[in-house]
Amino acid sequence: MTHNLRSRAWFRLAAAYFAVGVMLGVAMGASGDHSLFPVHAHINLLGWVSMALFGLIGTVHPSINEGRIAAWQFWMYNVGAPVMLGALALRIKGFQSAEPLIGIASIVVGCSVLLFAWLVFTRIGARPESLSSATRELRAS
Ligand code: HEM
Ligand code: HEM
Repeated sequence: MTHNLRSRAWFRLAAAYFAVGVMLGVAMGASGDHSLFPVHAHINLLGWVSMALFGLIGTVHPSINEGRIAAWQFWMYNVGAPVMLGALALRIKGFQSAEPLIGIASIVVGCSVLLFAWLVFTRIGARPESLSSATRELRAS
């Protein structure tokens, strides 16, 4: 996947999680049943907030979206996060057997975040990439 498509995917996912997270918040407020608040909080924070940041950081620094490690970071996050959130919702609603799945999925998300940190530390140089590509376009025109 090219860098722009990866950031676009993050933005679409962020918006989708935002819609679901806020609808759950509204439903909690309307019903007075706040039991799913940790699910609501983490849909919004792991989904909307973190995914929008992945998309924005990948737009400013496209090199963090390139290659196999970036693909692993993307897919581990996007498998781990929904499984973690779904299992957490089931656990809160009384399905104790979902507990190990929360743990496993959290570790997958945690590994994805470690890969993200590695990408940021190794790929982002001192010069903003978007600025250098804009400069290239100016020179080419
Ligand atoms: C219309 C939008 C929203 C509604 C109606 C809403 C509603 C709620 C409700 C009812 C609770 C439970 C409060 C409690 O029982 O203590 C809650 C908790 C929370 N919400 Fe939202 N929420 C909305 C948007 C958001 C957004 C956009 C975020 C994050 C970006 C967010 C993050 C949180 C967090 C972190 C908590 C847990 C707070 C705590 O630890 O007590 N919410 N929200
Ligand atoms: C795999 C990733 C994550 C795991 C396993 C995790 C786990 C947890 C746990 C165990 C709690 C305490 C819940 C309680 O005491 O009832 C918590 C609370 C909280 N976490 Fe996370 N967290 C993760 C990611 C994040 C991220 C990325 C953010 C912010 C961007 C965040 C923000 C919060 C907030 C605001 C609370 C307090 C509200 C609540 O209890 O739901 N978490 N988290």
